[in-house]
Amino acid sequence: MVTLCSRLTLDRSLETSMTKMTILFLLLAGAAVCAAADVSGNWLAQEPRTDGTVRRTFLDLKQEGTHITGEVRTIEDRFEITDSTGGPDVFTLTGTSQAGNAPRHATYTVKLVGDELQVMAKTRPNRPPAELVAHRTAPGGGAWPARLQPPVLHSVPYNGLAKTPPMGWNSWNKFASKVDDAGVRAAADAIASNGMKEAGYVYVNIDDTWEGERDAQGIIHSNKKFPDMKALADYVHSKGLKIGIYSSPGPATCALYPGSYGHEEQDAKTYAEWGFDYLKYDWCSAGNIYKDDEMQPVYQKMGDALRASGRKIVFSLCQYGRNHVWTWGPDIGGNLWRTTGDIRDAWDSMTKIGFNQADIGPYAGPGHWNDPDMLEVGNGGMTTAEYRTHFSLWAILAAPLLAGNDLQHISPEILEILTNKDVIAVDQDPAGKQGRRISKTGDQEIWVKDLVDGAKAVGLFNRGADTAKMTVKWADLQMSTAPKNAKDLWAHADVPVDNPEYSADVPSHGVVMLRVQ
Ligand code: GLA
Repeated sequence: MVTLCSRLTLDRSLETSMTKMTILFLLLAGAAVCAAADVSGNWLAQEPRTDGTVRRTFLDLKQEGTHITGEVRTIEDRFEITDSTGGPDVFTLTGTSQAGNAPRHATYTVKLVGDELQVMAKTRPNRPPAELVAHRTAPGGGAWPARLQPPVLHSVPYNGLAKTPPMGWNSWNKFASKVDDAGVRAAADAIASNGMKEAGYVYVNIDDTWEGERDAQGIIHSNKKFPDMKALADYVHSKGLKIGIYSSPGPATCALYPGSYGHEEQDAKTYAEWGFDYLKYDWCSAGNIYKDDEMQPVYQKMGDALRASGRKIVFSLCQYGRNHVWTWGPDIGGNLWRTTGDIRDAWDSMTKIGFNQADIGPYAGPGHWNDPDMLEVGNGGMTTAEYRTHFSLWAILAAPLLAGNDLQHISPEILEILTNKDVIAVDQDPAGKQGRRISKTGDQEIWVKDLVDGAKAVGLFNRGADTAKMTVKWADLQMSTAPKNAKDLWAHADVPVDNPEYSADVPSHGVVMLRVQ
């Protein structure tokens, strides 16, 4: 096969039946066509999603010879073309975004084929390249929003919510973009009927990918997967539960759906009108506009908007623990803030996060919590012993307990973990003190959480590959009097307190958790 730029292709059978002169003529003619290729103009690529929404990429290009300038815009990003190579009809463009903490680059390979622009877009190292087909469009479409100046800082009063760490369920860890109305109702049904509600689970939280388009007034609508948000909220409320929603301070969420940028008050009002009780607000594309040290005023905007919405809404900050959020989260009305990147359903991810929370304990307390991310318990990537460790550690950390598994298909062992009332009581202890590590010997760590009335929760964690004998000396708990009683919260049995210490064989990746009175 002989290819003459993208427009003229000769089949091998044709090739053999043609004279050399004819081929030479066609080559010259093809080269003339190629040289005439001009991608200048405004282009739009639309990628339809199954939920009825469309992801748009705008390319405004100007070609002079083989040099191309212009910009590429999506809902979450704007890249100015700073370099172009190639030609006559296939170009590689480098786009650069100057917003955020440091310049970011994207590459686009564009090829004009007939009246289509075939675009291979590589915008992030961790995202697969997108193959797009763009068509000519009117100039000025999908303009990138202007930078909005963050507000002056002030103190947003506490909303009186989340006196203990929020408990509930969130769709993301298991369902990601597959969450829909039926799935949320099913989760609410499960919580209301399987003992989780009695154990304290309240919030049924929809994560990313519920968003549809904004209308002419700028009001956000849900997409096809969520036909009626108010009816859904009413349903969840009818089960005696509360409902949560998700957005971003940027123009786009992390799954590249519309965020609340420039629509904060309007969105807070919409959530309130629909009847939502909880908002997870995820930095995502805000990082393409603002620097990390602007997070506080940017989050304050939504803190104010929620307060003005007329409904009490838990405010959950999700910016991956950057910019020392624990020092300013409560000032902007935050009830909890993520302290880390995303958890994965794997022992290494869970332990890296969980055992790394020791230093920020003092910043947690009633109404405002460190959030080491949602639970992976029951998602299949860890053993039952490891999930028990995960749940125990989160309880000792006074972490929000947001189950992230499929509640319709839950095994008895997993349900038993999620509804262990003694462990939950440690998490929900009204003193609201986050636990701390009191010892680390090789792979063995002992953590202690101060509880009301001078009681202590103790976690003996064995991160090693073999069973280990672990010992806690009562004196190390710094209790005012010698313990009168100690209970193993997984074995549901008292352990002796008459000796000065207690020893247990802790299985590999397992935990022994005590409540010492
Ligand atoms: C980020 C958050 C996750 C989840 C996804 C949704 O990665 O940290 O918890 O909300 O976005 O896109």
